[in-house]
Amino acid sequence: MKKDYEEQIQKLLARMTVEEKIGQLQQCGPSLVGAFDVSFEELLNMMFDGRITQEEFNRLMGTAQQDFHEEDLRAGKIGSYNGIGDSATANRLQKIAVEETRLGIPLLFGYDVIHGFRTVTPIPLAESCAWEPELWERTGRVAAEEATAAGIHMTFAPMVDVAKDARWGRVSEGAGEDVLLNGLYGAAKVRGFQGDDLSRENAMAACLKHFAAYGAVEAGQDYNRVDMSMQRLWEEYMPAYKACVDAGARAVMPAFNDINGVPCTVNSWLMRDVLRERWGFDGLVISDSNAIAECVNHGIAEDKKDAAKQAILAGMDMDMSSNSYISCLKELVESGEVPEQILDEAAADVLRIKFELGLFDDPYQTDEERESHAMLKEESRALAREAAVKSIVLLKNENKVLPLKADAKIGLFGSLASDKEQMTGAWAIGAKPEDCVSILEACRMRGIPFQYSENLTDAEKIAADSDVLVAAIGEMKEESGEAASRADITLSPEHMALIEGLLATGKPVVAVLFNGRPLAIPKLAQKVPAIVEAWHLGVEAGNAVLDVLYGDVNPSGKLTVTFPAAAGQCPMYYAHINTGRPGGKSKFTSKYLDAPVEPLYPFGYGLSYTAYSYGDLEVKKEDEALLVSVSVTNTGDRDGQETAQCYVQDRAAKRVRPVRQLKAFEKVSLKAGETKTVSFRIPFSELCYYDWDMKEVPCEGFLKVYVGGDCQAALTGEICL
Ligand code: NOJ
Repeated sequence: MKKDYEEQIQKLLARMTVEEKIGQLQQCGPSLVGAFDVSFEELLNMMFDGRITQEEFNRLMGTAQQDFHEEDLRAGKIGSYNGIGDSATANRLQKIAVEETRLGIPLLFGYDVIHGFRTVTPIPLAESCAWEPELWERTGRVAAEEATAAGIHMTFAPMVDVAKDARWGRVSEGAGEDVLLNGLYGAAKVRGFQGDDLSRENAMAACLKHFAAYGAVEAGQDYNRVDMSMQRLWEEYMPAYKACVDAGARAVMPAFNDINGVPCTVNSWLMRDVLRERWGFDGLVISDSNAIAECVNHGIAEDKKDAAKQAILAGMDMDMSSNSYISCLKELVESGEVPEQILDEAAADVLRIKFELGLFDDPYQTDEERESHAMLKEESRALAREAAVKSIVLLKNENKVLPLKADAKIGLFGSLASDKEQMTGAWAIGAKPEDCVSILEACRMRGIPFQYSENLTDAEKIAADSDVLVAAIGEMKEESGEAASRADITLSPEHMALIEGLLATGKPVVAVLFNGRPLAIPKLAQKVPAIVEAWHLGVEAGNAVLDVLYGDVNPSGKLTVTFPAAAGQCPMYYAHINTGRPGGKSKFTSKYLDAPVEPLYPFGYGLSYTAYSYGDLEVKKEDEALLVSVSVTNTGDRDGQETAQCYVQDRAAKRVRPVRQLKAFEKVSLKAGETKTVSFRIPFSELCYYDWDMKEVPCEGFLKVYVGGDCQAALTGEICL
């Protein structure tokens, strides 16, 4: 239901001065000011590099206050704020915009609502392991209900950066390494955030990011460069962004990185040719934080003014936090270097999203009353628990250690078992630690007989009294997310020592992993009988983990990222191309001397308390599509849910193709002993690829089809197209 506001936009533009138009392009955040005369960022740097102590930093922070740049706002120099997440502040600033600026244009409030607002749901990487678009949409809806009640109009999400390198900290913010899954995940979030009418008070505009290919930063190092062939870009990265644009995302954030040597921030091919012309996008394009000014560091702009000029000419509408537009655009327009028409187009994009959000009709879409009622509703918590349970992936379960018997006494270990704050994961802006349920608290609430220790103190005594030992290990939430890349993605020595100590007691050990990325855990996998991948699950983490440990719910999550067998294998991902010498036993093949060829746990993998078998694979074709069907049987004695996955491989093409690529999947519920037929219809258009000249060409000749419960699928078929 997209309405046309062009007439109103043009009328308003005609009344605006150049300064007022530029003001609409300015997004800023509150700055911290206090008894320090440097910026907050610099203060942080000073603490990190030891120029001031942590104590001195804390003392100075005690004097800090937020500066909302209200004089600039009154003067019509601010069109949007980032980082305000409470209705009282938002409405106070909105009132200034509406009542005290010359034209009364309302403000747009944006914030990073990445996985829930107050009801923190699992990090996107975790939630993607549910393989359930309908769930992704529902959690997106709850996030929008809460965030809009807190005054937020637009979220900088979804992030659909396909991420194949586990070292990258932002792996946690997307749906993993597969392009199809990222597209489906992102599109579901767009629908959830925006609903079907953006002007509703509980609809939040989606700003998809980071356009494009940010997930491919070299060596998984954040903010790094990206260098890839156009074929890879179009086949393995672009479709996910396109899926979100097609789902109606109203804003886009170009990435920090360059593409072919041109930073996305000033890349007119990306923002104009691809996004607007080819994909028909007519929403708002907003830079990443300070990215326009950083074009000087990239070495593509002489100075801030040059960066501002390049960015706006390339199609960047709004400047997040770098003050480049506000300080340089006027001069650029007056000198004719930036035609006023270009400025008008950018301002029109800002006004359009404000009209669409209904802000001109009702600039105050919430108040403290609505805000206080919207948060952490019972049904929202229930959904957070459902999402958390579905995100958990059972990686190992030897000797059926799990599920635990209802009366099993557990010895609980590790600080992550009791640390409520750690349950949220990265980017949890509306989170309150007291809202989160840790494993320890969940045990108490269930009345489970347990004893707890953070470390190995009393381990022997506790073990003697327990049937099973549960160790919560992994990563702290600060170890994933933005600016949190890791060169070594193994477990810390402390966590491994805890595991060794517990194993020495002779009692069965269950490792519960809290982490924001795949970890390299070969030793853990070799030593402990059971591993539960819990990721960072949000407010209901502890309850969800116990639901799975005690078998109230049969785990059904499947990995959307490959778990390497050694950190040095990174980047390791399933949809790689074949070389002339695929890794194998003989020496002269593509592999490392000191690591296996195979991953530890493949993409798509995940165990359950029952077992499934696949059979009767049929592969046929009709005029426009490939038809695949398979029977899936629950061969165990528990009901469960299995995600059947269908992969293809173009055996000989005009260009080397991935060894397999996910093309379809379906999550089916199967009662113990039940068999169901699962059918996939894959249009030939989805099998196309790009040739040397970047022409889309059909897949022809022999196509291999793989179907099963992970990417090392059980069944193989072949068809000639
Ligand atoms: C930088 C991050 O790269 C981006 O994802 C985020 O939306 C902005 N900062 C705003 O917080």
